Amino acid sequence: MKPTVSVYIATSLDGFIARENDDLDWLDAAGQTVPKGEDFGYAAFMSSVDLLVMGRYTYEKVLTFGEWPYQDKRVIVLSGRPLEIPPSLSHRVSHSSESPQQLCQRLEQEGVGRIYLDGGVTIQRFLAAGLVDDMIITLIPILLGSGKPLFGSLAADISLKLVAAKPFDCGFVQITYAVQY
Ligand SMILES: NC(=O)c1ccc[n+]([C@@H]2O[C@H](COP(=O)([O-])OP(=O)(O)OC[C@H]3O[C@@H](n4cnc5c(N)ncnc54)[C@H](OP(=O)(O)O)[C@@H]3O)[C@@H](O)[C@H]2O)c1
Repeated sequence: MKPTVSVYIATSLDGFIARENDDLDWLDAAGQTVPKGEDFGYAAFMSSVDLLVMGRYTYEKVLTFGEWPYQDKRVIVLSGRPLEIPPSLSHRVSHSSESPQQLCQRLEQEGVGRIYLDGGVTIQRFLAAGLVDDMIITLIPILLGSGKPLFGSLAADISLKLVAAKPFDCGFVQITYAVQY
């Protein structure tokens, strides 16, 4: 069976996941308003996924965090160029330049059940390939005006079915959609 491909991501209300220079200062600032202990379902989501697939730019940003946030979870980084993986991560991080279809087929053969897909361009490519199953999107109450977009142009409309919508006192709204191709 094809792995379930799930997006879990935070975006500004106007649809940006980072500033143009990859800065996440706005997200960090919003995080300061979150009550202690509130994780927006992240831990439960993480425990439901077998591995992460992310684009090169997301990977490079995560490397700047200092601490690798995914513990021993397997991570596949997509890039069409050579990728540097620090020796301390080489047992859990791997590089692939497969298409979304090829990667999903390989992971299906490996028995992978659920994938956490991350990175704007990467999500756009999987959406265009008809391979995203669900999206958990946390809307941050800010307008950035410009930046790296979560979504992009499409050859055809993609319909979404609302699964859940949850407002939080800090102003975040988390919306879960099932993708209907
Ligand atoms: N707000 C949030 O919750 C959130 C979450 C995730 C990321 N972010 C931020 O978003 C930014 C990164 O997103 P992004 O949209 O710029 O890029 P991205 O999706 O992280 O990376 C895009 C790159 O991934 C590679 N790629 C994707 N699919 C591929 C495929 N099938 N085969 C080969 N290569 C593939 C390409 O790399 P090459 O050009 O090397 O070939 C492409 O340029 C970062 O600033 C990150 O911090 C924010």
